[in-house]
Amino acid sequence: MVHQRFPTPAVGMLMFCAVVSCSVTGRCEDEEPTPPLGLPPVYYPDDNLYSKERAALGKLLYFDKRLSSDGTVSCSSCHLVKYAFTDGAAVATGINGQTGGRSAPTAINRGYSTAQFWDGRAPSLEAQAIGPIASPIEMTNEKDPERAHQTCVDRLHKVPEYRARFSKAYGDENFTIEDVGKAIATFERTIMSGNSPFDRYKNGAKDAMSASAIRGKDIFFNKTACDSCHLGFNFTDGSYANIGIGMDKPSPDLGRYVVSKREEDKGAFKTPTLREIEHTGPYMHDGRLKTLEEVIEHYDKGGIANPYLDERLKPLKLSKQDKQDLVAFLKSLSGEGWRMKPPASFPPSKE
Ligand code: HEC
Ligand code: HEC
Repeated sequence: MVHQRFPTPAVGMLMFCAVVSCSVTGRCEDEEPTPPLGLPPVYYPDDNLYSKERAALGKLLYFDKRLSSDGTVSCSSCHLVKYAFTDGAAVATGINGQTGGRSAPTAINRGYSTAQFWDGRAPSLEAQAIGPIASPIEMTNEKDPERAHQTCVDRLHKVPEYRARFSKAYGDENFTIEDVGKAIATFERTIMSGNSPFDRYKNGAKDAMSASAIRGKDIFFNKTACDSCHLGFNFTDGSYANIGIGMDKPSPDLGRYVVSKREEDKGAFKTPTLREIEHTGPYMHDGRLKTLEEVIEHYDKGGIANPYLDERLKPLKLSKQDKQDLVAFLKSLSGEGWRMKPPASFPPSKE
């Protein structure tokens, strides 16, 4: 796609109007993408409202390896479209082949939560997006986070088209790392998953789900009350729970506790969405469970015993059929709104 840098007068007028109405009304001209069936509108913060330009710019940046200090890693290195925006591995691999201790969660439907990461330490998508750029195990060889951000912005400033696009999208060709975070966050808010067989079934299409998936749905919402945590349209209460994962290690990742310092948060991790779950394995924050069958076995046992185990976890005594039905239900949560082609090319840098 060729980007038009010098718009015709008509386009220029339109842009002018868009800018004026944004600043006057506080809302932007462009209509936000309509979420697929089963999802409510995405929340766009007042200081980063949706526009097509912002989303398109964010998409380029998301896939651009020049965000990393040696040009080898992009956001999409660990959140790939083909794995439903995860990386298909137990733990993620970043710059210089380094691995961290946590699994890359999906970037789908993240616009429905403010807190990000397994432990909720980032307060917004904007804040989250600039995190990896300063992480020495993800995207930078710099030790100092401020320097990492500065060198990233310096690299991107050398791309004339990024200057032009930021100027249009955020009104300044001398964009900052915060602007980079805003553009990426806008793109991320457009990555959605809905209109799954489950959504269509709920909407009245009684043949959208198999008999087994329908039985699994009843087990999920009634017998096993998975929805005491995996709740609502995005199958998460947005809270943190200890289901025992990792507590069996000699020095466990304490998860939410590291952020909140509350004793009861030891070993608690964010309840993840279950949408696209069929495509986002391996599962859990440390990627230890390879299949959905293994996940069901984990819950059937009542989790892994430890002093902080959530009291909602109890041995379930599920039959073989119950387990199959639950897996069939989980697979009925695969939908659409996230499949896309990465950009075919990136705008060139000028030294
Ligand atoms: C080296 C692999 C790697 C790279 C590169 C990477 N991520 Fe991640 N991402 C992860 C891992 C691992 C986590 C979970 C970390 C944690 O919870 O502590 C994560 C978490 C996230 C989350 C939070 C999801 C949730 O459910 O809370 C979002 C959103 C995200 N990444 C987007 C991005 C964006 C945008 C970029 C590029 C600027 C990026 N990631 C680059 C591995 C990576
Ligand atoms: C007490 C709250 C709670 C209950 C009840 C619960 N879950 Fe979870 N679930 C979580 C948390 C928290 C995680 C992530 C844990 C971790 O990685 O340490 C999780 C992870 C998962 C995952 C893996 C997600 C991923 O992206 O890796 C699946 C699948 C899942 N749960 C399904 C279920 C099913 C099915 C049930 C009912 C049998 C259930 N959950 C009951 C809180 C809960």
